[in-house]
Amino acid sequence: MIFHSDTSIVTIDRFIIEQEAKFPEATGELSGILYDLAVAAKMISSKVRRAGLIDILGGAGSENVQGEHQQKLDVIANAIITKAMDHGGRLCAMASEEETGIIEIPPPFKCGKYVLLFDPLDGSSNIDVNVPVGTIFSVMRRVTPGTGQGTMEDMLQPGLAQVAAGYIIYGSSTMMVYTTGHGAHGFTLDPSIGEFLLSHPDIRTPASGKYLSVNDSYERHWSEPVRALMRRYRGLDNHREAMNVRYVGSLVADFHRNLLGGGIFVYPANTQSPTGKLRLLYECNPLAFIVEQAGGAATNGSHRLMEVVPTDLHQRSPLYLGSSRDVAIAVQMLEDDR
Ligand code: AHG
Ligand code: MN
Ligand code: MN
Repeated sequence: MIFHSDTSIVTIDRFIIEQEAKFPEATGELSGILYDLAVAAKMISSKVRRAGLIDILGGAGSENVQGEHQQKLDVIANAIITKAMDHGGRLCAMASEEETGIIEIPPPFKCGKYVLLFDPLDGSSNIDVNVPVGTIFSVMRRVTPGTGQGTMEDMLQPGLAQVAAGYIIYGSSTMMVYTTGHGAHGFTLDPSIGEFLLSHPDIRTPASGKYLSVNDSYERHWSEPVRALMRRYRGLDNHREAMNVRYVGSLVADFHRNLLGGGIFVYPANTQSPTGKLRLLYECNPLAFIVEQAGGAATNGSHRLMEVVPTDLHQRSPLYLGSSRDVAIAVQMLEDDR
């Protein structure tokens, strides 16, 4: 293992290689997936940075000065990831929030032993108002034998089957945070050199935190135990100090702040969305893997999130994600909801 100090300059590529070297059995394929994702992230970042210029350069449905048809950024991000990842020979299938079915590996590209699931642009409605957005990804090993296209069976695995997961936040700076099950590590993009540099090694989230992120406009649609839980977090039942409410409506941005500062992100089921809103496979599970690696926890209210066996590619799940003690309060208080 190569030693770094707090001031060592370490690129994401070098960090991935050093991590891989700890595992003599590693073939380098997973590392290749992470490199390619970092490249896609830089490309999406550069598009997001120019987002406010889309009206000047040509709005949706029109052509810009280069004669290119303008597309919504989530469609562009989806295409960037697909094109960055489909030909490496490491994946046998992909799935995206933007596509109904499995994304096959187009011939003549070789199929590999992993599947990739992703939300190409999370919080995309926030683009118009210059609030941070993100990308979320999850990588699992295929379970079907052979070297052909991956199938739904390869996709519908519980979060515990993830071999890598992470997110990119396009915020005041662009950051990529990932885990391969050996800690959660964060890299900040230096746009002047186009490199992600290690800025947050081995992230640890506080055991109890100050931030509560929830959209409480749904309060009237929540169950009574969920309402009681929110009163607890707000300190209204005199059991604890009130948490600070912070909610921008981009899961990645709300999660990232809480990961570093401590607290909980909550998106409960409600009578209008009986299974919540957020998608289990490419929103909830990757962030659950990250938060657990950082010492936190994630539940759907009754089960550890990463143990849930999915039945549908785009299935939704209630989500309670963050500092371990704050999540434990949810588990305890939602018992009556079962
Ligand atoms: P996406 O843009 O990928 O569809 O995700 C939006 C999600 C998530 O980012 C955010 O936490 C949540 O929607 C906000 O939902 P509400 O507006 O219902 O609070
Ligand atoms: Mn999303
Ligand atoms: Mn999205």
